[in-house]
Amino acid sequence: MNINWFPKHMRSSEVVLRKNLKSADIIFEILDARIPRCSRDERIDLITKEKPRIVVLNKCDLSDDAGDRKWVAYFEKNGAKAVTVSAVHGNGIKKLIKSAHGALSGKTSKLHNMKDRKKAIMAMVVGIPNVGKSTLINAIAGKKKTKIANKPGVTKVKQRVTTRNQLELLDTPGILWPKEDEETFESLAFIGAIKDEVLDLETLSLSLMKKLIDFAPANLARRYQIHVHEQSPLEILECIAMKRGCIRKNKNIDYMRVSRIVLGDFRKGKFGKITLEMPENDA
Ligand code: G4P
Repeated sequence: MNINWFPKHMRSSEVVLRKNLKSADIIFEILDARIPRCSRDERIDLITKEKPRIVVLNKCDLSDDAGDRKWVAYFEKNGAKAVTVSAVHGNGIKKLIKSAHGALSGKTSKLHNMKDRKKAIMAMVVGIPNVGKSTLINAIAGKKKTKIANKPGVTKVKQRVTTRNQLELLDTPGILWPKEDEETFESLAFIGAIKDEVLDLETLSLSLMKKLIDFAPANLARRYQIHVHEQSPLEILECIAMKRGCIRKNKNIDYMRVSRIVLGDFRKGKFGKITLEMPENDA
């Protein structure tokens, strides 16, 4: 699968990001809790350097609770505060706000004592496309969804979103980029962060079967009432096709249809809460 993951205009955002960073007191680094490694831009450590940072494991309504705990422990062991959040359902938002204040407690009280300084903390939300930056900003601000453009420069005026929590958010989120290797590409495709139009869905669904055999065989078996033990990804996919009536008039299996079913089910969380990768030294 050799394609451009994201349009070129979305790549030259580092300058925009660095510029916006100057006004930020703290960084919210948003990751997808199902794939914290693959949804991370490792340059973040270099880009944000001195700024305090909170790792936000978003979409925790779709990730495994035990996996979440392992990732939180992993990030905290490596010196970053981490919080699990579901921006669509509102879980973890209060904890995130509290953590932000906690991380800056010395600094905010100093700011409060200076009349001419702002009282609220300024948080900049950064992350790769589709990880939930806009949804999180709206959830913290208690606003209805307004999509903030992923195109750097499109939101011409940098605006501050104020909240009732002595927290302001930069409404031009910083766009980071995932690594461009096969594993990352596949993981992003599983979760629906890359358009289906540019994907080979049949190959992808076989990779997803393999991943689920490794990480969540019981969930796979339960969803389709099938046996997965000692079955190959292809045998499993064909079995699901039979169960779901994905058979053409000529009696051949309709691989495209069954592929869409399993990918759609995974993205909607129909297999239950699943984390597709664990921290190193833990798997
Ligand atoms: P971005 O700004 O980082 O690009 O991401 P955005 O907020 O646009 O979110 C991308 C997709 O992820 C949206 O779905 C959004 O609803 C979903 N999402 C964000 N946070 C969560 C979460 O905590 N849990 C779950 N399950 N989904 C989340 P979409 O299908 O692209 O749009 P929509 O139809 O839901 O509006």
